[in-house]
Amino acid sequence: MPPLAPIGPTVSASADSQPVAKRFAPQGPLSGSIRVPGDKSISHRSIMLGALAVGETRVTGLLEGEDVLATAQAMRQMGATVERQPDGEWVIQGVGVGGLLQPEAPLDMGNSGTSTRLLMGLVASHAIEATFMGDASLSKRPMGRVIDPLSQVGAEFTASEGGRLPLTVRGICPAVPISYRLPVASAQVKSAVLLAGLNTAGTTTVIEPVPTRDHSERMLKGFGADLTVTERDGERIITLNGPAELKPQVIEVPGDPSSAAFFVVAALIVPGSDVLIANVGLNPTRAGLFEVLHKMGGRITFLNLREVGGEPVADMRVQHSQLHGIAVSPSVAPSMIDEFPVLFVAAALAEGTTTTSGLDELRVKESDRLTAMAEALTLAGARVEEQEDGLTIHGSGGAPLPGTAQGAAVTTHLDHRIAMAMAVAGLASADGVEVDDVRPIATSFPNFMPLLESLRA
Ligand code: S3P
Repeated sequence: MPPLAPIGPTVSASADSQPVAKRFAPQGPLSGSIRVPGDKSISHRSIMLGALAVGETRVTGLLEGEDVLATAQAMRQMGATVERQPDGEWVIQGVGVGGLLQPEAPLDMGNSGTSTRLLMGLVASHAIEATFMGDASLSKRPMGRVIDPLSQVGAEFTASEGGRLPLTVRGICPAVPISYRLPVASAQVKSAVLLAGLNTAGTTTVIEPVPTRDHSERMLKGFGADLTVTERDGERIITLNGPAELKPQVIEVPGDPSSAAFFVVAALIVPGSDVLIANVGLNPTRAGLFEVLHKMGGRITFLNLREVGGEPVADMRVQHSQLHGIAVSPSVAPSMIDEFPVLFVAAALAEGTTTTSGLDELRVKESDRLTAMAEALTLAGARVEEQEDGLTIHGSGGAPLPGTAQGAAVTTHLDHRIAMAMAVAGLASADGVEVDDVRPIATSFPNFMPLLESLRA
């Protein structure tokens, strides 16, 4: 990686509001039917690819969370028209690959690593300069993993210490088509390289030793890019021939399995629960949690399997179950990378011990999710041991966790998934769990609390 020059601090995205604490208390069995909001990964990509197509892309079911809204705002700043219609449909007028304009102000990425890393890829192969800034959580996260390959493409970077935000990308056109083997299992890095390849003449190749979520590949093909995926010796090789000409699409975004996960675990661990979650995306690169919960004895049934927007989708019926602890194989980690916080909660209520390993990546998410969850669950009365690359959790055997003492609150570290996982733990506790700040939930699941309320029996 080239040396990174430091640049000065900017105001963090959420610096102007105060933490909002909330106690999540047991509310009896959960029953009824809900529909979770649109998939976050697909929503980001719908806006980005729509903004690069020539013509009008229409999107229904878009997740209107803060992270996706940050992507929408950034694409507007780079020349696309991105508008919400009164009926909830989003309409995007693209500028065409190669047509991004230089933003006049910094791009405020808020809490969103996906927006940041993917947009860095887009900017890298356009002859424009963009500064990226984010909140306190995002400003701690490593960007060297995208700076590395995008430097090979020819882009230049001025970043804060350690390759962090705020940072400035100076893109280049013509950029160099590269062949890049992913050193970390990361769909964001893969996608950044592929998106840079869109406005690059020649073949951009990404070699993925461990498969990660493949929404970028599916959607790029759907938008008409010349992209192929082959498998060799267990590796995935993705090639993209550029420059690409993207055709506008009509997209229906399926429900987010990572959001459904909180209600799936809640229904499994709260006695007497029986919940239907409609329209959940079940892309195999995302559905690892449901497989693991099945193995733990979870009663989860998939109904009405179908395809929505090129992705497998089903309705899920989830009934309370006595879970048992298992050793979770590190090989499933990429297919449930965002679901570990809530899996740890399920494990805390299971019979026996659950072990996890190979989870180093969890330390560089919106928070260090291994330490954050070990501390939060311990404060709520669970028995947890933290290792370098995983947690070992000794379950309660179904007995409610004690919950947090009066005056004590679990710390969410601006991490939406810690907040929601511990909210679920509160439902299966004796005295409730106090969460120090529920604001971050709005980044990915703005209606989490009303949906939870609606499942009161
Ligand atoms: C995402 C990829 C994952 C995931 C994130 C969304 C994406 O990150 O944690 O929430 O949309 O590509 P990594 O690629 O860093 O694992």
